[in-house]
Amino acid sequence: MEHPPFPIARPRRLRRTPALREVAAETRLHPDQLILPLFVKEGLEEPEPVASMPGVWQHTPASVREEVAAARAEGVRSVILFGIPARKDAQGSEAWNPEGIVQRALRDLRDDHGDDLVLIADTCVDEYTDHGHCGPLRADGSVDNDAANACYARAAVAQAEAGADLVAPSGMMDGMVGAIRSALDEAGHAERVAIMSYCTKFASAFYGPFRDAAESAPAFGDRAGYQLDPRNGDEGLREAHRDVAEGADVLLVKPGLPYLDVLHRVKQATGMPVAAYQVSGEHAMLHAAAERGWLDAEAVIAESLLSLRRAGADLVLTYSAREVARTLG
Ligand code: PBG
Repeated sequence: MEHPPFPIARPRRLRRTPALREVAAETRLHPDQLILPLFVKEGLEEPEPVASMPGVWQHTPASVREEVAAARAEGVRSVILFGIPARKDAQGSEAWNPEGIVQRALRDLRDDHGDDLVLIADTCVDEYTDHGHCGPLRADGSVDNDAANACYARAAVAQAEAGADLVAPSGMMDGMVGAIRSALDEAGHAERVAIMSYCTKFASAFYGPFRDAAESAPAFGDRAGYQLDPRNGDEGLREAHRDVAEGADVLLVKPGLPYLDVLHRVKQATGMPVAAYQVSGEHAMLHAAAERGWLDAEAVIAESLLSLRRAGADLVLTYSAREVARTLG
């Protein structure tokens, strides 16, 4: 038999044993990189499961404390809170009520865990408005950009005062990060409270189950007038640069798996800390297939999160944070 002119490359040498594969692994997932999203609902007596999101609950003020204590014991270090208020209005004013549902939960969790827990608050008003849009409406039904920013600024200050380490504006209004940064600085939180901006948040059909969990489906129309068009990657990058210029500390790309290209580009272009959100539809999709016996839920979730990391995410938001932390721990 004729030999090739030089020995062929044999990458399989480093794939031979589990130990070699561990040593050769380029990407790892650590519990400190996980952020657990949680829903807390005002006036709820008992926690309620969310039908379209296996393992996810609408929490009471008491049960969210138990959930976070359990998650922390399993190694989860960060949570992001979404609130469902008892009273909704055109502005979403419960979002900045110092006694509002998220502000109360932030204070409780800070009391329970001190600085050992990283507390993030979603800063938007779609769960708080009676029409379900991410800001006050003009007469023609469109969202008033600057009025929305004023709402986010008030909500962010209320969240900062209640103990949030990071506020996470998700409304995709122009100038939203700058408006929030100025308000936080004026309120004395320049050094303590950071901003994780949903800089590239696409107008995605993958948010369906979240809107059941957060009771935030728009009463009419959709969010395409403010969220990014799924066809536009360059525009996502421009949004990321603008948010950095306005003072964002962490950039968030959302959804996760369908937007790995955007995630990669945002990380490469900015060098900022980047988070990726494995959203409700991704969670529902993987679990629905697993329930039919078509996929192994644990394996596909772990693989998806590793893919987000490989593409450039430093942090991942996932409804499976507890399960993943448990298997990593
Ligand atoms: C808006 C917000 C949404 C999600 C997070 N923040 C929903 C939306 O834009 O309709 C979706 C997250 C998910 O689907 O898991 N405040």
